[in-house]
Amino acid sequence: MRPKVTVIGAGNVGAGCAQRLIDKELADVVLIDIVEGVPQGKGLDMLESCPVEGSDAKVTGTNDYSATANSDIIIQTAGFPRKPGMSRDDLLMKNYEIVKACVEPAAKYSPNAILVVVSNPLDAMCQVAYKVSGFSKNRVVGMAGILDTARFRTFLAEAANVSVENISAFVLGGHGDTMVPLVRYTSVAGIPITSILDQNTIDQIVQRTRDGGAEIVKHLKTGSAYYAPSAAVVEMVESILKDKKKVLPCAALLEGEYGINGIFVGVPTKLGANGIEKIYELDLTDEETAALKHSADTVHELVNVLQPHLD
Ligand code: NAI
Ligand code: 2OP
Repeated sequence: MRPKVTVIGAGNVGAGCAQRLIDKELADVVLIDIVEGVPQGKGLDMLESCPVEGSDAKVTGTNDYSATANSDIIIQTAGFPRKPGMSRDDLLMKNYEIVKACVEPAAKYSPNAILVVVSNPLDAMCQVAYKVSGFSKNRVVGMAGILDTARFRTFLAEAANVSVENISAFVLGGHGDTMVPLVRYTSVAGIPITSILDQNTIDQIVQRTRDGGAEIVKHLKTGSAYYAPSAAVVEMVESILKDKKKVLPCAALLEGEYGINGIFVGVPTKLGANGIEKIYELDLTDEETAALKHSADTVHELVNVLQPHLD
C-alpha cells in the first residue's frame, strides 16, 4: 500500500506539491481546500495525468477533513501569499486563523502524522501548528531552508559556472530578510566557495538570496513563488517516507540548541521516518552566532504577538 499524504490548500504551492508527489509515485494524495470544486477539479485533472506519467498514485480532491483520515504526512499550505510591498510578517494574523482552522481537524483525523508546514510567516506558523496539533516536536517541521538554500545554490552555481549539484550550502535562521546564508560552510564539490568566487560576488549573492522571495513576488505581482517551494516540500516528504535520513535545513523547535529556546528556527536537521530525528549544531563564529540570534529574535517578536492566542 502506498503512503497517504494530505495537502491542505489547493492553491499554487499545494497543487504543485500534489502534482510532484504523484509524478514521483511517492504517495496517494488527498488535496483539500475551503473553496468548493477547486480541489476536486485540480485533483481529477492531476489524476488524469497519471496514465501519461506512468504513475498509479491516486489523488482525491475534497472539502471534508474526514477524507484525510490516517494520513502519514500532512502538508499545510493553506494561507494567503504576499503581494508586492508586503513582507511575510504582514500575513501573521490572517494566516494564524487559517492554519489553526486547518491543522485542528487534520491533526484530529491523522493523530500519528508528520506535519510539514509551509504557510507564512513560516516559523511563527510552525509554532501555531505545533500548539494546535499537540504533536511531539519531532513531528512538526517547517519548509523554508531548502528553498532559501536552493536559491543560494542556484545563484552560486550560475556565478561559478558549475553544476548546481556541486554546490553544497546551508541557509539558517528564520524565513525572512534576516536569514543567514552560511558562506563558511559553502563549497563547490568540497572546495571552499571563497576560493572560487570573490567576496563582492558572494556578498551580492547572499543579499539576493535574502531577497529571493521578494524578487519572485515583484515579477508575479499577484502572488509568490511555488515551483521551487513545492520541489522543496517534496524533498522533505520523500526523505521522511523513504526514511532516507537526508540532512536538510528545516524549521525545527529549538530547546537550547544554538542558545535558542522555545521557537521554530531553520537549522540543519536529519529527516527520516520519525520526522526530525536530529538537529545538528554547527560551530559558528561570533559573527554567525550574532546573525542567527538576530534572526531568531525577529521570529520571537512574531510569536510574542501570537502568544495570547496560543496559551
Ligand atoms: P494560494 O493563494 O495560491 O493558495 C492558498 C490556498 O489556500 C487557496 O487555494 C485558498 O483557497 C486556500 N485556503 C485559504 N483558507 C483556507 C482554509 N481555511 N482551509 C483550506 N484552504 C484554505 O497561495 P500559495 O502560493 O499556494 O501559498 C500558500 C502559502 O504558502 C502562503 O502563506 C505563502 O506565503 C506560503 N509560502 C511559503 C513558502 C515557504 O518557503 N515556507 C514558499 C511559498 C509559499
Ligand atoms: C518565498 O520565499 C513566499 O516565502 C515564500 O518565496
